[in-house]
Amino acid sequence: PFSVFNQLRQTTPVRYDKSRSCWDVFRYEDIHRILKDPTTFSSIRGLAVKDRETILTMDPPRHTQLRGLVNKAFTPKVISDLATRISTITDELLDAVEIKKTMDIVSDLAVPLPVIIIAELLGVPPEDRNLFKKWSDILVKGPDQNTEEEFTQVIAEKEQATHELNDYFVQIVEQRRNEPKEDLISLLLQAEVEGEKLSDKEILGFSILLLAAGNETTTNLITNAVRRVTEDRTLQQQLRGIPELIPGFIEEVLRFYPPIQAIGRVATKDVEIGDFKIKKGQQVISWVASANRDEAKFAEPDSFIVDRKPNAHLSFGFGIHFCLGAPLARLEGQIVIERLMKRFVDIQFVPNSEMMYIQSPFVFGVKQFTVRMT
Ligand code: HEM
Repeated sequence: PFSVFNQLRQTTPVRYDKSRSCWDVFRYEDIHRILKDPTTFSSIRGLAVKDRETILTMDPPRHTQLRGLVNKAFTPKVISDLATRISTITDELLDAVEIKKTMDIVSDLAVPLPVIIIAELLGVPPEDRNLFKKWSDILVKGPDQNTEEEFTQVIAEKEQATHELNDYFVQIVEQRRNEPKEDLISLLLQAEVEGEKLSDKEILGFSILLLAAGNETTTNLITNAVRRVTEDRTLQQQLRGIPELIPGFIEEVLRFYPPIQAIGRVATKDVEIGDFKIKKGQQVISWVASANRDEAKFAEPDSFIVDRKPNAHLSFGFGIHFCLGAPLARLEGQIVIERLMKRFVDIQFVPNSEMMYIQSPFVFGVKQFTVRMT
């Protein structure tokens, strides 16, 4: 699917698509500039419902304040402390399929792992995990429903799940306020920037954002990484022999198969990109999947180079909205590959199994990916 972008970068690096009423931007340099300039290219989208505002759809100064607060709870230390738990849970999930010697990477590993980790991070007690999983499964349900009916039904289900999840978090927040623990909700309740704290509503919105922004994306990173090791046996053996290559490998998977292909902004004033005049209020879609393969930025962009340096891919965005969960997603991806390489001498794609792409232009991933482990 990426060769289309190569062509578009040459022929129409910036273009207006009438049918979608938005601009598409394909070159690294232009995209970098857009993401670096939140004053001109706003994240406040028409879509954001007023009382469901999150940092993702805010601009400075509010974004700066809230991001500062959540940064305090989502520190590198909090994340790196999770490494042992991520390994343990990965091993438990692999134990469950060990005898079969085959598994669907998506449903057996890549979907449950991020959900369990987020639940633990937030402080969902183990006995509620199934309840929580039910809600987050609904929330991360792929955007690829075929008929309008299915689509409407999924939207209704999502609203219901958000509602229930909301009520659930209201309880947890109340409990943690009375009796703080060592979880993210407790940290968020305590976090303070210049005397300001998060409101309960903001804590709820943020918790739900973590589920929405963190689960499906990490699922796709994990699946894409496993897919990559099955596509190249030499690479697989390399990773097995030299585990130090794994962090760089995950970065290259992110560049090569970005879980999120595009990032949206809205122009706050008339502005030019190249020869094109973007008008105030128009939507601008930055195709990071294209930027990541831009030959002006990356040598041999269509080659997968496991130790590529530098590797300034834009898969986590850039600038003030740079993915908050990047350290967590990276860690999960690295640990999954590390455990798989340790436990099995070979992992192969089962060719007659289905590998259907997720039907969304903004997401890169597959719905199912069966492998056989030796
Ligand atoms: C922001 C990608 C995992 C939480 C972003 C953005 C991208 C992105 C591209 C920037 C959006 C923009 O500029 O409009 C990804 C990818 C992931 C991933 C590819 C997995 C491989 C996670 C995880 C979490 C998370 C695990 C949380 C647990 C967030 C949040 C923001 C964000 C809260 C908003 C930051 C802000 O607006 O300041 N992510 N993400 N993400 N991500 Fe991720």
